[in-house]
Amino acid sequence: MVMQQKEKIIGQRHSFLYPTKVPYYRDPVHLVKASGNYVWDDSGTKYLDVIGGIVSISVGHNHPRIKKKMLEMLERDAIQHTTYLYLSEYMANLAEKLAEVAPGDLKKCYFTNSGSEANEMAILTARQSTGEDMVVALRHGYHGGTSTPLGLCGHSTWKFRGVPQTGITHAKAPYCYRCPYSKTPENCSLECANDVKEVIETTTSGKIAAMIVEPILGVGGFIDPPAEYHREIFKIVKNAGGLYISDEVQTGVGRTGKNFFAIADSGVNPDIITMAKGIGNGAPVGAVITKEEHAESLKGKLHFNTFGGDPYQAMQAAEVIDIIAEEELIKNAEIQGNYLREGFEELQKDFPIIGDIRGRGLLIGLELVKDQITKEPASAETAELMEKAKDQNLLIGKGGLYGNVVRLAPSLSIGKNECDELLTGMRKAFECITK
Ligand SMILES: Cc1ncc(COP(=O)(O)O)c(C=O)c1O
Repeated sequence: MVMQQKEKIIGQRHSFLYPTKVPYYRDPVHLVKASGNYVWDDSGTKYLDVIGGIVSISVGHNHPRIKKKMLEMLERDAIQHTTYLYLSEYMANLAEKLAEVAPGDLKKCYFTNSGSEANEMAILTARQSTGEDMVVALRHGYHGGTSTPLGLCGHSTWKFRGVPQTGITHAKAPYCYRCPYSKTPENCSLECANDVKEVIETTTSGKIAAMIVEPILGVGGFIDPPAEYHREIFKIVKNAGGLYISDEVQTGVGRTGKNFFAIADSGVNPDIITMAKGIGNGAPVGAVITKEEHAESLKGKLHFNTFGGDPYQAMQAAEVIDIIAEEELIKNAEIQGNYLREGFEELQKDFPIIGDIRGRGLLIGLELVKDQITKEPASAETAELMEKAKDQNLLIGKGGLYGNVVRLAPSLSIGKNECDELLTGMRKAFECITK
């Protein structure tokens, strides 16, 4: 029965869905139930979920508070869809809460259903506000699958021939493990930050609309730039008249274990922050938050997003903000993140295939290489490790240009026992691929 249903789904996907991305795993997983940090498949097998879909589960699956609110709303026939045209306390309440947790004087929100749309909106805002066109993005960066974000994307693997990349220019990535200048942390002079200046001077008029940067490059394989990088490029962007857009679709809502938005870890007050994924804890919520003056540039324009900020989505995002504060989940992300990092450092001693361990808080990347000196990407081994981790009842993620970075981003509520379960399972998975 279970097999039949699975085969039916695979057949339907094959017949009726775009074949753009095959599901993870040789034997794809059909998840049917979730609670906290665990998910169950159709045969009742329980997995520790350490990737949350794609870095989307922030406070745990089916958090009891969110469930209760959803049920309350359903029982009183609360309106599901209001759109921007009508008043809704849920959208207004969420905007106010975001303004409270955002750094600096970011206080005007625009709601969407996804990170791509949030980034489209951020670029539109920056272009409107500055009157300039050019946007600087980073190689190895990722900002979504719609037209402008694909132009901003810095990975051949995600780009499409024929998608124009007008008004966009790319600087080198602050990718320390594979430094584009062959420097080491000991002799680094932030050449990559200087490249942003050179790119602006040589590929634009000298004036830009914006630079969009992820505090930690997520899809790129959790590339965590040197501490001063964001501060340096912020100055360069300001000198070129641009807005600094922090794409926090993966890094936001406390994931780095320090601040609600990761850019605050660097002491930078950006002009715009975009978010999605974790802010909805699985609900389709995207948002832009910016300064009053930039939002004003769209005053009176006819522009809306049909479902952005709808009641159920907005309620869930507002609950996420409250749960993170009340359960002190940012602190937990720091504690469990440090614990996991130490555990993986121990693992690295036994498994030299782990070339680099990086990230912050509960955003942990393990870059796998065939050889620690040549750093040849261990792409096939990473795919195999995912299979073996699944055999250990662990759902993990991967990323990076070469598909050789294991990505771990559990919910911020993960506990020490679950971290131990992860470390034990990963040791066994590494044993399987290296023996
Ligand atoms: C940093 C970043 N920005 C934007 C996006 C796009 O978000 P969505 O897939 O919700 O459109 C992603 C998705 O992975 C992302 O990682």
